[in-house]
Amino acid sequence: MAGVTPIGLDIGSSSIRAVEVRRTKDEYALTNFGQVPLEAGVVRSGVVADSAALVSALKQLWAACKFTTKHVRLGVTNPQLVVRETSVSNLPAKEMRRSLPFQVSDLLPTAVEKSLLDFRPLEEPGVNPTVRGLLVAVPKDAVMALVDAVEKAGLHVAGVDLAPFALLRAASRLDAQVEALVDIGAEVTSVVVHADGEPLIVRTVPRGGSEITDAMATRLGLPAAEAETLKCRFGLHGDGSPATADAAADAVRPLLNELRSSFTYLASGERQKQVTRVALCGGGALMPGLAELVQEKLSVQVMYADSAARLRDIRKARERGFDRFVPSAAVSIGLTLGAAA
Ligand SMILES: Nc1ncnc2c1ncn2[C@@H]1O[C@H](COP(=O)(O)OP(=O)(O)OP(=O)(O)O)[C@@H](O)[C@H]1O
Ligand SMILES: [Mg+2]
Repeated sequence: MAGVTPIGLDIGSSSIRAVEVRRTKDEYALTNFGQVPLEAGVVRSGVVADSAALVSALKQLWAACKFTTKHVRLGVTNPQLVVRETSVSNLPAKEMRRSLPFQVSDLLPTAVEKSLLDFRPLEEPGVNPTVRGLLVAVPKDAVMALVDAVEKAGLHVAGVDLAPFALLRAASRLDAQVEALVDIGAEVTSVVVHADGEPLIVRTVPRGGSEITDAMATRLGLPAAEAETLKCRFGLHGDGSPATADAAADAVRPLLNELRSSFTYLASGERQKQVTRVALCGGGALMPGLAELVQEKLSVQVMYADSAARLRDIRKARERGFDRFVPSAAVSIGLTLGAAA
């Protein structure tokens, strides 16, 4: 339908969220948004574990939000997601699609017939024999299971995009810095390092806020719900007893190490790019003291990403709690911006 942009739909491990915009010239006006929580275990790191529960949550979201369309652009993420730079033969689009599996099969950790493939050129192909770009591969079954659940909920999948690319679209700041966008979710942390919008590395780290809560609960001998409250309220500062601060510091260490190793890899690889700014988002990034700790431990400037920076008319949405929605909303916002492009 002319003028209607598909809704950005992010199926996270802790909630599903949707964002609707209206495109006017080069601006995107926010018209609607909403989210419903998911029980733990329904979706794990982008993989559907309980399809019926997901379908019912999607129906609930649509019933509550009165979006103007059922067309959605769906975000996908997966622990086995591969995004890597490579060069392939410069062929017309149709031939490229046919030959891509043969050209890249050696680069994939899983069988090529079990993967959905995409190639995004990073340069104008011109008449060169090869073209440099990003090879994207995701397990086909996992994407199909997501699409199936969404369609069972009565929605129509107008497009699918990688969650990290949506993140880049919503939250990147375009300037001379090498910026790492880090979306810390419940079970997945997406890391996209880019230079002026061009992705340099994309990583899906299977760690997030749930792991931090679980580690604190085990260490302090607390039920998970109490550890979650402690984490959200006091974070790395602790509640006054050194034991809680120590438990929180230990709980975030594995994630911190993953970030460090991604940045080191980029600095030591062919391109030798040094990350100069980290922009955090995702619910997990709200942990008190975490931004300061990343800044101190990785010796890099850390800020919170402004995922709503490309949206206009957010004043009314603020009255409906948009500011509380924004920290986890980067992917859903970026998906609908991509659909409107
Ligand atoms: N104030 C807070 N301090 C610390 N952690 C928080 C805070 N608020 C939310 N979180 C954590 O954020 C996580 C949820 O983040 P988010 O909503 O971005 O995840 P998701 O997108 O549903 O999941 P994923 O991206 O992993 O699939 C939970 O682990 C939760 O404990
Ligand atoms: Mg998420």
